[in-house]
Amino acid sequence: MKTDKKVRSIEWQDGTLLLLDQTRLPAEVVVEEQTTVEQVWNSIKQLKVRGAPAIGVAGAYGLVVAMRQFRGLDRAGFLATLKENAAYLDSSRPTAVNLSWALKRTVAAVGQSSGTSGEELFVALVKIAEEIHQEDIELCRRIGENGVDLIKPGMGVLTHCNAGRLATSEYGTATSPMYLAHERGVPFRVYSDESRPLLQGSRLTAWELQQANIEVYTITDNMAAYVMQQGLVDMVIVGTDRVAANGDVANKIGTMGVAILAKHFGIPFYVASPFSTIDLATPAGGNIVIEERDAEEVTSFGLRRTAPEGIRVHNPAFDVTPAELVTGIITDRGMVEPPYSVNLQRMFG
Ligand code: MRU
Repeated sequence: MKTDKKVRSIEWQDGTLLLLDQTRLPAEVVVEEQTTVEQVWNSIKQLKVRGAPAIGVAGAYGLVVAMRQFRGLDRAGFLATLKENAAYLDSSRPTAVNLSWALKRTVAAVGQSSGTSGEELFVALVKIAEEIHQEDIELCRRIGENGVDLIKPGMGVLTHCNAGRLATSEYGTATSPMYLAHERGVPFRVYSDESRPLLQGSRLTAWELQQANIEVYTITDNMAAYVMQQGLVDMVIVGTDRVAANGDVANKIGTMGVAILAKHFGIPFYVASPFSTIDLATPAGGNIVIEERDAEEVTSFGLRRTAPEGIRVHNPAFDVTPAELVTGIITDRGMVEPPYSVNLQRMFG
C-alpha cells in the first residue's frame, strides 16, 4: 500500500529520532531532532507527536534517547534508570494506552535480555524500539486489509480527529481502509470533522487525505448531523486511544456525539484499533483517565482570543463512546463484533 506523500510522523535515522511537528501542519512541514528525554516528553505533551500508536512508538524511542548517556552503567543501574525514565515519559499523557503499553513492553524486554553491561542492554533497547515501530506499520496495514471491503463505490465516510498516518507510523488506523480502497480504485468521499479545539481533523486528516488524492471535505463538528440527515454519510470510521474490556471506546472529544448521531440516522459506526490499543485490564470506559488540557486551547481560535478574559473552562481532550453504539471494531486480527466483553477477551485475552 502506498500513500502519495511520504511525510512521516516518526523517523529513526541512524540512531537519530526525528519527529514531525504536527502543531505546525498544514502550513509548515518541520521535522525536529529529539536530543533529550525532556524534549521527547514535551513533544508528546504539546502534541507535536500525537495519536495513540505514534506516542507509543515515540515513547519507546524516547527511552533510547534517555538511556544513551547511561551506557556506562552496570546491569542493575541501567535497568533502574530505564524504569525511572519510563515512568517520566508515561506521565506526559494519560488516556492513550499505547504509551504505557509501549513503555512497559520495552522495559520488560530489556529486563529479559541477557546483557550484563549497560552497553549490551542499550543494544537490546534499540532493538525493541525498532521492533515496536516496524510492528505498528504492519498492524495498521492489516487493519486496512480487514476494513477495506466495508468501503463500497460511491460511499460517504465520516471520520473524527486524526487517526491517520500522522497518528501512527504509516497508513493510520481509521484511514488505512480508506488508503487501501483508494489504491484499489474504489470511488468514495470522506467527511473530516474539524475536531475542535485543536483541529486535528481539518489540519491533519484533511491534509493527509488531500495529499493522497482522496476526495475529502472538511466540516465543522456541528455540521455532522446535517450532513448525515442529507444522506451523505454511509459509514463512520474513527480511531481510538483505548478500548476497555467491555468495548467502551475512548477517542477524541466529540466522538461520542458522532456515535449518537450515527445511531439516530441508522449509520454504522466502526472503530479501527490495533491490538496495542485494546486494554483488557481496564474493565469499562468509566475507568479510563480522561486528559484535561489547558484552558487556552478553548478560549482562543488560532492566535485570536475568542472567550472573555477570566472565563471558567472545561477542556476534556477525550470522551468515551459506550460499547452499545459501536457496530464493530476493525482490528489487525479481524473484525470484532458485539458482545464485546466476550469477543475482545476471546481474540485478545
Ligand atoms: O489528542 P490527540 O490528537 O492525540 O488525539 C488522537 C485521537 O483521538 C485519535 O483518534 C486516536 O489517538 C487514534 S490514532 C490512530
